[in-house]
Amino acid sequence: MSTATSTLKQRAEYTYKHNLRFGRHGWLRLTPAYSVKIVEELLGSRNRFRRVFDPFCGTATTALSAAYYGHESITIDINPFLVWLGQAKTARYSDGEITDARQACVQAVELLRTNRSKLVCCPPPIHNIDRWWSSGVLTFLCALKGAVDSVTEANSSARTLLTIAFCRTLIGLSNAAFNHQSMSFKQGNQFHLNLDIDMPSLYESDVAFVLGGAAENPLGTASVFLGDSRNPSKTVRGPVDLVVTSPPYANRMSYIRELRPYMYWLGYLTNGRDAGDLDWMAIGGTWGSATSKLTDWKPAPDTFKSKLLRNSLERIAGEDNRNGKLLATYIEKYFEDMWLHLGALIPLLAKGAELHYIVGNSTFYNVLLPVEKLYEEMLRGWGFSNVAARALRKRNSKKELVEFDVTATWLG
Ligand SMILES: C[S@@+](CC[C@H](N)C(=O)[O-])C[C@H]1O[C@@H](n2cnc3c(N)ncnc32)[C@H](O)[C@@H]1O
Repeated sequence: MSTATSTLKQRAEYTYKHNLRFGRHGWLRLTPAYSVKIVEELLGSRNRFRRVFDPFCGTATTALSAAYYGHESITIDINPFLVWLGQAKTARYSDGEITDARQACVQAVELLRTNRSKLVCCPPPIHNIDRWWSSGVLTFLCALKGAVDSVTEANSSARTLLTIAFCRTLIGLSNAAFNHQSMSFKQGNQFHLNLDIDMPSLYESDVAFVLGGAAENPLGTASVFLGDSRNPSKTVRGPVDLVVTSPPYANRMSYIRELRPYMYWLGYLTNGRDAGDLDWMAIGGTWGSATSKLTDWKPAPDTFKSKLLRNSLERIAGEDNRNGKLLATYIEKYFEDMWLHLGALIPLLAKGAELHYIVGNSTFYNVLLPVEKLYEEMLRGWGFSNVAARALRKRNSKKELVEFDVTATWLG
């Protein structure tokens, strides 16, 4: 088997393992499969319909699960690309819209096969684009994007569905590897597709996958908005009686970094500075210019005060740790943002509202940051009752890294 074919086979297996069982959940996901399971357990076990709020939408896993179980769900995210994706994932599609999208796909592939030179679309302005795609793949992706845009109307369901399939194809054909905690590039093993590989067929199978999911319409409703969870009342109206979320972790993972390829291709990003600025606005972001801004950041006087946090920060900032001071500032800012968020949530909560925060602890220079305990402290600090943390699972081979469900009730 050639390298290209075996790589494609691996990718097909990857797609199968990670996505196929999840229908619309699998269109594009930031959330691992087990988190979907936890969310489903929480939402599926309720026998009365509730207003469910996820203040950190991501790829809309929670909103979609809630809507599938017949709840009314509301969610916000600070990233406009994820808002577009969340709206597309939670929308209802009629049979007619799905048929239109299927026909548009046939036309797009026909154009690709017969008239490729006439299709106009420029490569996205992403830095070091040749690390992402070989030139043959890039030419194909440009033609495909041009074809999709020319056979569909802007803002139509067909455009949305075919664009999501395009996102799957562009990542499937890239050199990016997602087998670590965050994205990396395959080293010394560029993913060179030769002309034997039928790229339009790959796209057709992505469209089939997306349309299969689109046909499974949710029972309940989901509303996805652009908003900042440090001030959710600006966007969302209460009362909500269940908050279920997997917030950003205090682990320096940048969602903008991960989502760059989609965001550049779809025009949500046009330069690195905007990417850094958006990451700085997001809780827990430290990528690009966000890192330098962090060095000048100072905590607010009335922020979350905790001996446990202070103690951990002092150990992380210790002299032997090269970037210890910067990381301690990063963590301090993370908890200030989450503190603001939890306080700002209160006006939206119904009496008796239940909260579930799926969080993971982290280690920095072998110092264990007890994230779940700090969430408990913050919740008690804001006057929540029944605060507790339940261990859900080990996160990887490091036995101290665990995922928790931190719960609380708002009794008013
Ligand atoms: C762990 S992800 C959510 C995962 C989600 N459960 C899913 O289905 O993909 C955290 C999300 O929080 C968003 N976020 C970060 N800061 C935010 C803020 N201040 N307001 C709203 N969303 C924010 C990020 O853009 C990211 O999508």
